[in-house]
Amino acid sequence: MSLTRPIALGIETSCDDTACAVVDGDGCVLASVVSSQLEAHRPFGGVVPEIASREHLENWPAVSETTLHEAGLELGEVDIVAATKGPGLIGSLLVGLSLGKAIAFARGIRFHAIHHLEGHLFSPFLRVAGEKADRPPEEFIGLVVSGGHTSLFRVKGDETTTLAETRDDAMGEVFDKVGKRLGLPYPQGPLVDELAESGDGKGFPLSIARCTDGSLDFSYSGLKSQTLVEIQKLRAAGVETDLGEVDANEMPGPVLDLLAGFRKAAVGQLVDRLERLRRQQPIRHLAVSGGVAANRLLRPTLEAWARESDVDLRLVSLQYAGDNAAMIAHAALLRDKRGLVDDPLEADAASRIPL
Ligand code: KG4
Ligand code: ZN
Repeated sequence: MSLTRPIALGIETSCDDTACAVVDGDGCVLASVVSSQLEAHRPFGGVVPEIASREHLENWPAVSETTLHEAGLELGEVDIVAATKGPGLIGSLLVGLSLGKAIAFARGIRFHAIHHLEGHLFSPFLRVAGEKADRPPEEFIGLVVSGGHTSLFRVKGDETTTLAETRDDAMGEVFDKVGKRLGLPYPQGPLVDELAESGDGKGFPLSIARCTDGSLDFSYSGLKSQTLVEIQKLRAAGVETDLGEVDANEMPGPVLDLLAGFRKAAVGQLVDRLERLRRQQPIRHLAVSGGVAANRLLRPTLEAWARESDVDLRLVSLQYAGDNAAMIAHAALLRDKRGLVDDPLEADAASRIPL
């Protein structure tokens, strides 16, 4: 296979996944490895920051070695190193960013410190199976839905404007919290999604929150509280709500119905905001990314909405929905093409940084 230069090595350690990837100058993913720390965090029901940093340090040698091996390259053949600078867990970020800075400095190659959301924003343009990435349109609307963010952006050339973000919880976070209350193991989001598949949401028409000031901002804490109250009511009525111990095919119907209602309202809020945005300004291209973009209701619902609304929808591939380093290397290549570069001696990690 012929490779297009520059070749970028991406490093992503913003939370609990140790990820490394190699992407070539055409945006073709040569290798993308994500090493999960699930087992280390599962006993605690969520990510423990101190454990995450130590796991990154331990996992890195094997993860980077496997990535380069799969790409069929030596480290000396890489032209660019990119690492996530934030937002995320500071200890975790420091591991990946320091590794990236050290590699770039030692080898004298170009370095890019990438904002995690910039990685997600452009991830819908990555293709699978060794194909070149699509070139992002000059202007598009980006929707990032993850465990830490529910945000709408307008990307126009070099400029990214935030159109809306969540005023409280992120959508993925609420999926996790609802699942946690039901005794499901971490990460609860995909499990809640799977259980909701077998429920019927009609009995639980949960409301879609809107801001009274006309803003397009999201809000998920109300939906979370409503759902937790409904769980409490079911428990009081004698329904089993501790699903951790329940056999997969004996899940209580009322809980499945509640989860279906919850998921419908959660996805409904996204469509509500997109529809209202579309009434304010034409949307030609919409790029949807982030871990929650894997949701089984979200995908067909957005596809149907985009078809009806004549919007060119780019839904991130399942492979690049959750955190990964291919999106970081890809974002770095796009920046590199515009002549941007960072100084490895200056780049700093930060747990909270605006895009
Ligand atoms: O993008 P991501 O991997 O990490 C962050 O940047 O946050 O997203 C992880 C989030 C978690 O909250 C996880 O529960 C949620 O995405 N998630 C889902 C699904 N798959 C992952 N939420 C709902 N439905 C899913 N299928
Ligand atoms: Zn993410």
